[in-house]
Amino acid sequence: MKGIILAGGRGTRLYPLTIAISKQILPVFDKPMIYYPLSMLMLAGIREILVISTPEALPLFRDLLKDGLQWGLKFEYAAQSEPRGLADAFLVGRDFIGDSPVCLTLGDNIFYGEGMMSLLQSCARLTEGAIIFGYKVSDPERYGIVEFDENENVLSIEEKPKNPKSSFAVPGIYFYDNQVVKFAESLKPSPRGEIEITDLNNIYLERKQLKAKLFGRGVAWLDAGTHESLLQAGAFIQTVQERQGLMISCPEEIAYRMKFIDRAQLLKLGQQLSGNSYGKYILDLANGR
Ligand code: G1P
Repeated sequence: MKGIILAGGRGTRLYPLTIAISKQILPVFDKPMIYYPLSMLMLAGIREILVISTPEALPLFRDLLKDGLQWGLKFEYAAQSEPRGLADAFLVGRDFIGDSPVCLTLGDNIFYGEGMMSLLQSCARLTEGAIIFGYKVSDPERYGIVEFDENENVLSIEEKPKNPKSSFAVPGIYFYDNQVVKFAESLKPSPRGEIEITDLNNIYLERKQLKAKLFGRGVAWLDAGTHESLLQAGAFIQTVQERQGLMISCPEEIAYRMKFIDRAQLLKLGQQLSGNSYGKYILDLANGR
């Protein structure tokens, strides 16, 4: 299994905020937004990751994330010059994917909740078909919407329906077998000029190769892609982290707990950041506190 993070272009809805911070990478509370979807790939056990972003932002992501070795990962980078849609990630990432299955995460989607790691790891064992998720939301017209029968089989998926058939949105984490590249190649742009992930999921559905799993109400799925939701996500992360004294989506911690890096490397990472609370957290972890 390989992973892709599509992180960019999608920030345009936050203009002029992104311009105002002179094209730096957006944060959610105390860390870069990309750490959140990256953490999901890491928890799934995925270590080869392609970061796709705009040609302007890509060097910033490269500066931030480097080659990945510091976290026991391997990053590659690819530019998407136009926002051609989420499914375009599989065309941009064609060579990277090779003959592997692949997990796509969206750069502005944040997940948090009990049981996430084992769920992701079971999905990462996929070799055939596709797995998407469903999550109950109060504003279904904003998302891809999945409709289920009583046995949780998928009946339909629609992109931003005016009259949603259910209130289960499809969050921005998707697992696909290797057919995804050829299916993405066959897609035609939608009225909004993008090749849609929903159309791709519908190809799997027509072939009876699509599974959808529900995230229960104990899972938080936040989409930080609007001004309001960005602020809400920051407040949520702050609240939970400060209450527990545990970080949400700290790649250094996950790399250590997943045994991608050893204690000596964790110590080194903490020492590099020792002047701030983030670095102190890593050092405390390395010192067993
Ligand atoms: C995209 C997808 C949509 C999905 C959403 C999750 O929407 O098209 O199906 O529910 O991401 O964040 P977009 O944010 O591009 O409008």
